[in-house]
This record gives sequence, C-alpha cells and structure tokens, in this order.
Amino acid sequence: MPAIKLDGKALGATMRGEVAARVAARAAAGKRPPGLAAVLVGDDKASQQYVKMKHETFTAAGCASTVHRLPAETTQSQLLDLVAQLNADPAVHGILVQLPLPRHIDEGAVLRAVSPAKDADCFHPENLGFLAAGFPRFYPCTPHGVVQLLTRNGVPLAGKEVVIVGRSNIVGKPLALMMMQKPGTSNPAACDATVTVAHTRTADLAAVCRRADVLIACAGRLHVITPDMVKPGAAVVDVGTNFVNGKLAGDVHPAVADVAGWLSPVPGGVGPMTITMLLYNTLSAAELIDG
Ligand code: GUN
Repeated sequence: MPAIKLDGKALGATMRGEVAARVAARAAAGKRPPGLAAVLVGDDKASQQYVKMKHETFTAAGCASTVHRLPAETTQSQLLDLVAQLNADPAVHGILVQLPLPRHIDEGAVLRAVSPAKDADCFHPENLGFLAAGFPRFYPCTPHGVVQLLTRNGVPLAGKEVVIVGRSNIVGKPLALMMMQKPGTSNPAACDATVTVAHTRTADLAAVCRRADVLIACAGRLHVITPDMVKPGAAVVDVGTNFVNGKLAGDVHPAVADVAGWLSPVPGGVGPMTITMLLYNTLSAAELIDG
C-alpha cells in the first residue's frame, strides 16, 4: 500500500489560518500588525522566489511585510547598517536576511547582528542556545515545520527511533535538539524521541536509516534515500531542495512511497510549512515585543 501523504500544503494553509485569526484579534484590540522585514542581497533567482512567496504569505495573513532589495555589490558595513536600522524600527518584529549572501559578506557576522528578539528565522546563536538549553524563544522554521507535519498527522514520536540524515545549522542540528528534548509548557514542540544524526559520510548509512521509525532526509543530496534504506511502515520526511533541469526534487527517491507508511514529499511537504512557521515566529515576536 502506498504511503499516506504528509501534506504540507494543506496543513500549512490550516496553520496560516490559525495565525491570521490571532493577527485579526490583535488588530481588533488596537495592536499593530506583526511586521516582517526581509533583506535580499543580489539577484539569486531561487532567493528572489522565496522572498516573493514570503511577502505574499505575510500580506495574506494580515501582517506587514517589507522587502529590502540590495545590489550584489552591497558592502558588509552597508548591510549591517540596514540591520541596525531594522533592529530599531518598532514596526518591524521579525527580520529575515535571505541566505545565501554574496561571498564577500561574512554571513555569521550578519546573522549575529540581527536582534535576537526579532530573529524570525531562529538563526542567532543566542536563540539556538536557548533551544539547546531546553527553553526556546523561537523554533527554527524548517525543523518546526517538520515536527508540526508529523505530530498533527498523528505520527508517534515519543520513544521512537528518529534518524536525521543531515547536520546543517538550519535543519539537522536544531531538529535533533527538538526531537530529543523532553516536552513541557515552555517547550511544546519537543518530541521525546531517541535520535541519531547521520550524514552522507556515515558508515553503512543504509543500515542506520533502516533502524528509523521516523526518517528525516535533509542532506541536500538528490535521492540519497532509496527504498532499501527504509523500514516498512516508517514515516519519511523529505527536506531536500535540489534542482534538476530547473525542477525541484528531494533527497528521497519517489519509490520510497511503496515502502514507507507516511511520506512528506517534495514539493508539497515541508516547503509550505517552513513559510508558515516563519509567520508563526513573527507573530510570537510581536507578542513578545508589543505584548
Ligand atoms: N535560504 C534558504 N532557506 C532559508 C531560510 O529558511 N531562511 C533564510 N533566511 N534564508 C534561506
């Protein structure tokens, strides 16, 4: 039997509706709308598309959204000046510096310059530290999207074997923290799972993956997860964003659908959830800053 689809498009729409209702309630109480400032440096096509989608999503949910487009030759100090200006702007609750940045700019220095209270991506080391310590201020968007996609579809996580293939700062590492953490009122998206973090250099990756009740592919390598690597009935979440002849393709081979119990596909799985969780973080930031 083919896997049950973990449909991020549908769940993302539902959750954006939940955020929009909370935004409308804030407006009715006379509060200013949550505001996102996105910063895009250069003319990377995929980044332009992501920023456009974010802008449309925020506007549709009743939030404020501004996009700051800077030329590729922008200096680091010019970019840091803009970030400082956004940090001080009371109408801005969330700041997103779209990655990748041009090579002459020190990405870490820019991400550390974003006010941690406005860090809608949850990329700042202070916020990653809070997450690691078990009392997060925000959750990083893609890991949070993965957790919501699993839990809201009833996939069991507590006590289960979760294998994450990928160790990036944006997905693999923070997702491992969320998966292993004990849940509590200050950490509602923690999962109580038993976690293994693997990667493309892991010895006998197939054997490690076959242990998984829940297998998350975030290695950034096209179709690295094949059907023989999946325990029958397991939940498989594809976080890959590879482009093949201009078309989006994941880290999970499509034939995995014949073995898995649940499958979050690419496209239509985690991607729409990531944007939804960005919206969620910007609302949280507005609640923290404005009350
Ligand atoms: N580039 C690719 N994904 C992301 C993301 O989630 N946030 C930012 N800021 N840049 C990205």
